[in-house]
Amino acid sequence: MAIITKAPRGTQDLLPSNGFREQFIEKNLTDISSYYGYKIISTPVFEHTELFDRGVGETTDVVQKEMYTFEDNGRRSITLKPEGTAGAARMFIEHGLFNEPMPQKYSYVTPCYRYEKPQAGRLREFHQFGVECYGSSSPQTDAEVISLARAIFDFFGIDGLKLKINSIGCPKCRARYQKALRDYFTPFKDELCDTCKTRLEKNPMRLLDCKDPDDKKRASGAPKILDYLCDECREHFESVKKYLDCLDIQYEVDPSIVRGLDYYTRTVFEFVSDSLGAQGTVLGGGRYDGLISQLGGPETPAIGFAMGLERFNLLLDAQGVNLLECPVPDIYIGSVGEDAKIAAMRHAEELREDGFSTEIDLVGRSIKAQMKYANKIGALFTCIIGSDEIKSGAVSVKKMKTGETFSLELKNFAESFERLRINDMCENISFPDGTDATDLNSLMGKVSGAEDNKEQPFV
Ligand code: HAM
Repeated sequence: MAIITKAPRGTQDLLPSNGFREQFIEKNLTDISSYYGYKIISTPVFEHTELFDRGVGETTDVVQKEMYTFEDNGRRSITLKPEGTAGAARMFIEHGLFNEPMPQKYSYVTPCYRYEKPQAGRLREFHQFGVECYGSSSPQTDAEVISLARAIFDFFGIDGLKLKINSIGCPKCRARYQKALRDYFTPFKDELCDTCKTRLEKNPMRLLDCKDPDDKKRASGAPKILDYLCDECREHFESVKKYLDCLDIQYEVDPSIVRGLDYYTRTVFEFVSDSLGAQGTVLGGGRYDGLISQLGGPETPAIGFAMGLERFNLLLDAQGVNLLECPVPDIYIGSVGEDAKIAAMRHAEELREDGFSTEIDLVGRSIKAQMKYANKIGALFTCIIGSDEIKSGAVSVKKMKTGETFSLELKNFAESFERLRINDMCENISFPDGTDATDLNSLMGKVSGAEDNKEQPFV
């Protein structure tokens, strides 16, 4: 295929058949987060490269191997964001948001860019839904952030995910741990991959997330950070576990979770699925109490997570979760002749103003082809306006599913169609106890009763 009609490797188009589903997912993610107090933010797709060098960490895979970095025409080094946390932290400092009452809670959906080897669930352009909470060091916050992630998966009806948690301590305990790691890996120094040789000197903890299979095997026998936590960090981790227990959130303590980004301190966590093959981590996050001050802001504890939306979609598919279908038109208005065309356009406008999705013929199809098209796009109702309908002032509207027809006056077409549509929707509601769905009073009783008994209300 010619290069201009092929998207770059590791990128994905959002096709029209999936656009509404994606919007539905994103809307619900931000809505659920808003129940926890998270407000929507957005930061630029590109930032100064230095932000990621300093924020994400110079010895991480992301910074060393995966960033899309270029010089712009003003000779600035610019990088397409590989993740959302550093940009959010920059925004928090730049706009003095540390002066606002704490905690500050933000959510975002953003494209991210990492030059990785593409495979299922691993892309070069992907999208993250993330949350960041600034200003609380309380272990309650760690549990609340994790419970938000849990609520998201519950809402979408996803099960079977494993929550893995760990604590990677603070700079105080980390120094002792880094020394232990250096002592452990030094005898294998010559066998390490080139990147890990440098890491051994500069940041031995990064040896634990090397993707090289031999290095991985060696890393499994390395000392565990949990044995090196200082008293404060251990206490913090114990409290996080206690709060998770109180919230009935199941977890597994996994000392191998160290996360691939340098800013983390104390609690780190990942939600992992068995149904996604090698790229099983759907959501990852943790505490990063040092990042804001490291970037030049005041000491501010922080915690957050991000979930890859492409992986989330794969998970929904793997678990057979059916979300909102692409909406179909309420009505297709066919027309024959110039006067009818104008009438169809006018009625379509009225109907759309009243909230009904309406389509008309825009490509000059024959009447037979118009009906075939209406059927193909799944229009719920159809009608055809011709000279007879214009003369009589009435049109026959057909319900496509059953073939029933209804005569509606063209004069108040939108109003009559609205009545027809509402009646139709009510008829489609069935109550096991035989309640008449078109009886408004008994229906209101049912609706308020249903509130107490909602099972997956939006799915
Ligand atoms: P991360 O673990 O690097 O953390 O990425 C979070 C999620 O983004 C992953 O769990 C995965 O679902 C998705 N993801 C990462 N790389 C790719 C890729 N190449 N293709 C598709 N999906 C991918 C962070 O980015 C942190 N900023 C999370 C965070 C927020 N920590 C605190 N606050």
